[in-house]
Amino acid sequence: MRRLAVINMKGGVGKTTSAIHIAAGLAASPGKSGKRVLLIDADPQGNVSHTLGIRPTRTFEEFMGGEATFEEAVLSNVRPNLDIIASTPAAFALERRIAGETQRETILSRRLRTVTGYSAIVMDTSPAMNLLTYNALLASEELIIPVGMDMMAVIGARQTLAGVAQLSDLWPDRPLKVLAVVPTFVHSGTYATKATLEALDSDPATSPFVFRPGIRQCIDLSYATASHQTIWEYAPRSRAAADYTSLIRHIQRV
Ligand SMILES: Nc1ncnc2c1ncn2[C@@H]1O[C@H](COP(=O)(O)OP(=O)(O)OP(=O)(O)O)[C@@H](O)[C@H]1O
Ligand SMILES: [Mg+2]
Repeated sequence: MRRLAVINMKGGVGKTTSAIHIAAGLAASPGKSGKRVLLIDADPQGNVSHTLGIRPTRTFEEFMGGEATFEEAVLSNVRPNLDIIASTPAAFALERRIAGETQRETILSRRLRTVTGYSAIVMDTSPAMNLLTYNALLASEELIIPVGMDMMAVIGARQTLAGVAQLSDLWPDRPLKVLAVVPTFVHSGTYATKATLEALDSDPATSPFVFRPGIRQCIDLSYATASHQTIWEYAPRSRAAADYTSLIRHIQRV
């Protein structure tokens, strides 16, 4: 069972869009080890449910707090083979609630210990290195880092990787591997895209992992979100559909 976290401290870089498409894409492609996928929204903004048009009854907050079992918290077959643990703004209180607990960074990982039957678990995270993000990281093995085409997103990625390195020092038995740094909102020909890709290529922390050509800027992604569909449902012939299909293939290869 692969465990992937989609992470960047910078906001608005395409984390939720990427988490949803990675989860839905892996769920839709046949694999040897079964293809059921679990998507966990570890961000209290709750953007996953909004994007996919789900109204969760039980939430990530209740699952983390132990008020809901996995079976109660999970929404099954939100899309074929895709299950979700959804978040709502109620989870903003979680951060405070778990702050005093012992082993508070590994609650999610312990709650998921008995969960089986999935080929992959994909986690969406907040634009912050907070306790919930630590929980997602310590429940993961592989990282996907979307980077929008501006320097602040590169700085966010560097800060994120520094945070990951600190975490790995504290929990050496939970190695985290960067699977891909994914350029998003790519608009070739613009200065911002050129400068951002150069910055990613010249930084040894990111350069070995850059997924090329990345996810191009595509207005259909916003329209898909507004109509509560994935890009393959909304505009299967769009460039974003092609780019996310390439990303899925890349993830399946590595
Ligand atoms: N490649 C793209 N081209 C055009 N629009 C995009 C692209 N990727 C994402 N978007 C749109 O940009 C907005 C922000 O994306 P998203 O919510 O995935 O970012 P995020 O990193 O999860 O944000 P946050 O940090 O707030 O959680 C959304 O409206 C989404 O539809
Ligand atoms: Mg998001």
